[in-house]
Amino acid sequence: MSDKIVNFPLIGTPAPEFSAQTTQGDINFPADFKGKWVILFSHPADFTPVCTTEFMTFASMHEEFRALNTELIGLSIDSIHSHLAWLQAIKGYTWNGIEKPSVEFPLIADIKMDVANKYGMLQGESDTSAVRAVFFIDPEGVVKTILYYPASMGRNFNEIKRILIGLQKSAAEGVALPANWHPGDDVIVPPPGTCGAIRERKELVKNEDYDMKDWFLTFKKDK
Ligand code: BEZ
Repeated sequence: MSDKIVNFPLIGTPAPEFSAQTTQGDINFPADFKGKWVILFSHPADFTPVCTTEFMTFASMHEEFRALNTELIGLSIDSIHSHLAWLQAIKGYTWNGIEKPSVEFPLIADIKMDVANKYGMLQGESDTSAVRAVFFIDPEGVVKTILYYPASMGRNFNEIKRILIGLQKSAAEGVALPANWHPGDDVIVPPPGTCGAIRERKELVKNEDYDMKDWFLTFKKDK
């Protein structure tokens, strides 16, 4: 691969707009998804083994993501006909407790690599197939988290769901989440920014829902 410059969105910036052909019809992003969280992800190629296990897993969790006000959008640099044939084939497979899954979320046919180039999905492994990228985009169309995995490594879908739930919690409650946080664990309240706020925090933590380790590190029970 050449020393080409790869552009990609940054966390905290608007997700690049695009229009695309998908297995569920044409989409305009982010306009068609306003008010929802979106997980936009790429895979290297249709009819490949790791990608097949990932699509089976995403299909099996589709309703769980929908219940979290989240839509899935897949992408690879393959034609719409290749996508349709692959998704038909996937409907015949059973693996890891997932039986004959139906992929109902849109899969973008990015044959001209327009979207892949906007999202930095073409990296050092190949000039013609995307890495395994995952973009978490909030209901206002802002990028909140980016993951990139190599072609050889299937993604951890429990981690993808954990990140989504954590991002939603952080946005809704203004809290931060400690190392290895899982839903239900204690959260972190933002550190005070003034001497007065430190005094107020010392009062607040007399409540048993709080656990202050130091003035800048306070945990709160998740009730
Ligand atoms: C796979 O999905 O198995 C795969 C795709 C591209 C390169 C290597 C592995």
